[in-house]
Amino acid sequence: MLMKCVDIFKSFKVGRRKVEVLKGCSIAVDESETVVLFGESGCGKTTLARVILMLVKPDTGKVLFKGREVKPTREFRRRVQYIPQNPNEALNPRWRIYDSIAEPLRVHSLVETRKEEFDAVAAIAEKVGLKEEHLHRKPSELSGGELQRAVIARALILEPEFIVCDEPTSMLDVSVQAAILRMLMDIQRKTGVSYLFITHDLGLAMAIADRMYVMNGGRVIRELRREELQGLSTESLIRCELPRA
Ligand SMILES: Nc1ncnc2c1ncn2[C@@H]1O[C@H](COP(=O)(O)OP(=O)(O)OP(=O)(O)O)[C@@H](O)[C@H]1O
Ligand SMILES: [Mg+2]
Repeated sequence: MLMKCVDIFKSFKVGRRKVEVLKGCSIAVDESETVVLFGESGCGKTTLARVILMLVKPDTGKVLFKGREVKPTREFRRRVQYIPQNPNEALNPRWRIYDSIAEPLRVHSLVETRKEEFDAVAAIAEKVGLKEEHLHRKPSELSGGELQRAVIARALILEPEFIVCDEPTSMLDVSVQAAILRMLMDIQRKTGVSYLFITHDLGLAMAIADRMYVMNGGRVIRELRREELQGLSTESLIRCELPRA
């Protein structure tokens, strides 16, 4: 098992009220696996992702990476990457795309010369389908699809073992979405990277999932294998009408 979280509880204070957002969530992701986290808006998917990434601390519960409890160390930050729901969370609006993609290399001291850095950025840009001219622009000068490719390039440049993708294609049109998904799957075949892929699009889930967890109201209510996904409807999944696996 590559990543596992066990019995995660998380609440937020809103004014004087405490809102319980995660109510005992446990999920796991294997090596080279694509696991979909599926559920309606507001059910807690992004919050669970942020707990797994150690961006927020759970109230109780454990997150394990390769069998060890996760600490937000540099090493962890290198091996595990996040493609957030909104590209603007990952790209500095004032930086050229080149610098956003190169930054992780600089932070982790992985390149020694400008040339080495340029070659690494150019190679990853090509892999995700960004042209060199895009690298010199600011985020506001790119299309939604190009921006998402830049975010993916930034996540891939450290050759992570695990990537949490939070609806990375939800803002894109269908053909761009398909191209980006193909690219992510292709990268998985080549590198063996694992994905936790968050979506509320059941068609997309069926297309990519090896396994799927269904969340509802802060709980993981079902776990389905790929073979069990065909012929399901969003309604029946969320309302949990089908017999449990
Ligand atoms: N920092 C916060 N403070 C208070 N409430 C929060 C905070 N973050 C999230 N929430 C609440 O927790 C619930 C779950 O939010 P979350 O973003 O995890 O949902 P989601 O499943 O990712 O939804 P979507 O599909 O719309 O992205 C929501 O009701 C949200 O308002
Ligand atoms: Mg979300």
